[in-house]
Amino acid sequence: MFDTTKKIGILGGGQLGKMLCLAAANWDFKTCILDGSPDYPAGQVCAEFTVGDFNNYDDVLAFGQDKDVLTIEIEHVNTEALHALERAGKTIHPAPGALDTIKDKGLQKQFYAEHGIPTTRFELFDDEQALKQAILAGDWPLPLVQKTRTAGYDGRGVAILRTRADVETKLLPGPCLAEELAPIRTELAVVAARNARDEVAVFPPVEMDFHPEANLVELLVCPARISPLEAAEAEALAERVIRQFDICGLLAVEMFLTTAGDLLVNEVAPRPHNSGHHTIDSAETSQYQQHLRAICNLPLGSTAQKTPAAMVNLLGEPGHKGPVHYVGAEACLAIEGVHIHLYGKALTNPFRKMGHATITAPTVDEAVKKAQMVRERFRVLSLEG
Ligand SMILES: Nc1ncnc2c1ncn2[C@@H]1O[C@H](COP(=O)(O)OP(=O)(O)OP(=O)(O)O)[C@@H](O)[C@H]1O
Ligand SMILES: [Mg+2]
Repeated sequence: MFDTTKKIGILGGGQLGKMLCLAAANWDFKTCILDGSPDYPAGQVCAEFTVGDFNNYDDVLAFGQDKDVLTIEIEHVNTEALHALERAGKTIHPAPGALDTIKDKGLQKQFYAEHGIPTTRFELFDDEQALKQAILAGDWPLPLVQKTRTAGYDGRGVAILRTRADVETKLLPGPCLAEELAPIRTELAVVAARNARDEVAVFPPVEMDFHPEANLVELLVCPARISPLEAAEAEALAERVIRQFDICGLLAVEMFLTTAGDLLVNEVAPRPHNSGHHTIDSAETSQYQQHLRAICNLPLGSTAQKTPAAMVNLLGEPGHKGPVHYVGAEACLAIEGVHIHLYGKALTNPFRKMGHATITAPTVDEAVKKAQMVRERFRVLSLEG
């Protein structure tokens, strides 16, 4: 469907929605956003904005009525309404059934176990007390990783328990799972795309380095510094996973490459992903355009990387909260290969994702060096303190 009169409905108006709208605008596709306020990032660039709650059944149902394709930029949406819209014949990508599985980390892990997709050993618990008992009984030796089943994103629903003291202080409340702590050599993300003709295209693996305090990706590198064989295996695994979930659209597959050289699927996101931002500036096809191609059943674009790239999130500085004030943009723009993307959020918070910078360079090492310079120079402050 290449039809500029059709309406694409997107649940969520954050930065991923914004960049999806920007890609759609290049083809004159009409994007319609559902979220709390047109002041959110996507509100500034979409064709149509509906104020509402994407977690509310009635709001999602009403929003879907006049849309030709529905998609998401966040998986925590009201899927009951999406099921009702699907029954009424609406085209929804990703399918609500897959979303139900993915947005619950417990169901997601069970899905991997049932389908023979490699993942860390895990067990589900009704609440943190049940997990604590299992730890005290010696059924789950430390260290381990506790994850809440539904509440988490950006590392907020993840606790790494290393000591008995951690068990007393770090356990997160509610239904959860325990996972073995994987011996990680490199964290990878592989963004795959699939359309309704069952064509699949996979972007080259991206290497993710994490910020220890915020548990947010700090630096991302593409191509990942792994062997060609490891890269090929990671791409094949991502292709297998997107087919298994039967998803149309994008699926970002987060993986651990272990010290033993094994690949384990950590989790997936059925939408554009932080690890795919760099594709706007460094790949033949951006992940956002690829998502549109996939959900509209168009031919998928080339995933070839035009140049090595690094990406850094531009995070709100700790200690700063309030109306945003950017410092150092000019110094960064003076560096060749630096591409600044600001999301248009009025207020900053410590570690809030306010934008990102992609740095393209002839080699990954050079891109990483320049990324460090950007991180030192570009600062997201608030004059109010
Ligand atoms: N089993 C594990 N072994 C080792 N480290 C882990 C494990 N599970 C998670 N982690 C670490 O915690 C990070 C966050 O975990 P996960 O991706 O599951 O949570 P999340 O909150 O959904 O994160 P995000 O939204 O940032 O993708 C991982 O990227 C990894 O660094
Ligand atoms: Mg993750």
